[in-house]
Amino acid sequence: MSTDHLFDVRVTAADERRLACDTMRAALLSGPISDDDWASAAPGWDDDEHWSTSAWSGDRCVAHAGYFRVDTVVPGGARLGTAAVTRIGVLPTARRHGLLSRMMRFMLTSARDEGRPLASLRASEAVIYGRFGFAIAADGVVATVDPRRARPIANAAPGSCRVLARDEILDVVSAIYDRVVARPGAITRSDYLWRRYLEDALQGDKASFVVVHTDPHGVDDGFAHYTVSWDERPMAESAGKGEVHDVWGSTAAVELALWSFLCDLDLVRTFRVDERPIDDVLRVAVRDPRAYQTTHRYDEQWVRLLDVERCLVSRTYRPGPPVTIAVTDPLFPDNDASYELDASGGVCRTDAPAELRCGVDALSAAYLGTVPWHDLAAAGRVQGDQDAVARADDRFAVRPLAFCGSFF
Ligand SMILES: CC(C)(COP(=O)(O)OP(=O)(O)OC[C@H]1O[C@@H](n2cnc3c(N)ncnc32)[C@H](O)[C@@H]1OP(=O)(O)O)[C@@H](O)C(=O)NCCC(=O)NCCS
Repeated sequence: MSTDHLFDVRVTAADERRLACDTMRAALLSGPISDDDWASAAPGWDDDEHWSTSAWSGDRCVAHAGYFRVDTVVPGGARLGTAAVTRIGVLPTARRHGLLSRMMRFMLTSARDEGRPLASLRASEAVIYGRFGFAIAADGVVATVDPRRARPIANAAPGSCRVLARDEILDVVSAIYDRVVARPGAITRSDYLWRRYLEDALQGDKASFVVVHTDPHGVDDGFAHYTVSWDERPMAESAGKGEVHDVWGSTAAVELALWSFLCDLDLVRTFRVDERPIDDVLRVAVRDPRAYQTTHRYDEQWVRLLDVERCLVSRTYRPGPPVTIAVTDPLFPDNDASYELDASGGVCRTDAPAELRCGVDALSAAYLGTVPWHDLAAAGRVQGDQDAVARADDRFAVRPLAFCGSFF
């Protein structure tokens, strides 16, 4: 029996945001937000930054869902308007009444109406979002690096490094990031997101720093954000520890130059890095391959094509013979069509018989060129003959592999 009448699902009004925030926090096992924290969080709930829906039972907020307005880099370098879905939570007392389903339909429709062809998210549990057409499009890794075994690091770009003063961090770093970020899956970061990611370095109450790499012509071409701490134990065991939060460069060699700087920091005996791509170049550039240990691999970026045609025409493809893919999308049937990828990299709808058939979730998995069509076909999520699967793999493949690197 429908329980739709029990809950009012609507766009969250400005004066309802703090209640909605507390509801989301309770669902995610956190207490209510403090006045101080709300003062710094509130800009991240602004209309320009964030679209928000919530569900109400009388004056009680029982659920929340929203998205940040960002762009995602797709293969070839275009940046596509994206609903970066976030802050999803339903109070335990209101779960399994279809509230997430209602909010998700409302939210994805709103994102399409705003002209956003793409949605992406990070999932607390991997069983929640497939039903809405999302799929894992890229994995990430957690790694540790032993700097003494890692150095010297091969192929570091020539140039110099400087550590930024606190008051120049925001402007310098955001400008470099916007200029150099080219990896498929990476997203643009708003002022609010930058302040969140750089909080430690901006506040200056921890040993948290940003180092910038400059090329031999004086152009800033990469940066790393890191935190170091002293682990006080009996003197013989005391050691510095480092955490690396961000490493972005215009080339792999620039990222290696930044890692060289980090691995040369005196006293630091180990680095931990929580978000790296699965094809992290550092792993093959260290002197001793075991200096880099992958401790965990996780589903990083979930993607959902909202406007299939616009997404497909907006990315580039490797040269090769044509392939035709039929897509079904239960949520947005106007996406249901066959799409032909022609030999010159153009994409259009076609009435020709499709060689591959899949749901929008499988296409979303393959879209960033990192999850192979071969694997999706082997798992029964794509139907078609092996030759067409191999052609799709050749045409969609990218290097470097997709990676977002921005948690939201
Ligand atoms: C995940 C969550 C938002 C789901 O909300 P909800 O309103 O209960 O979801 P719905 O009622 O719309 O569920 C839709 C379907 O998904 C299934 N589903 C939802 N959450 C699920 C979960 N965590 N595990 C397994 N199945 C789940 C439901 O069983 C239902 O299946 P059905 O269509 O076959 O009946 C809610 O459980 C929650 O707040 N969890 C804790 C916070 C959290 O993990 N948030 C997500 C952050 S990324």
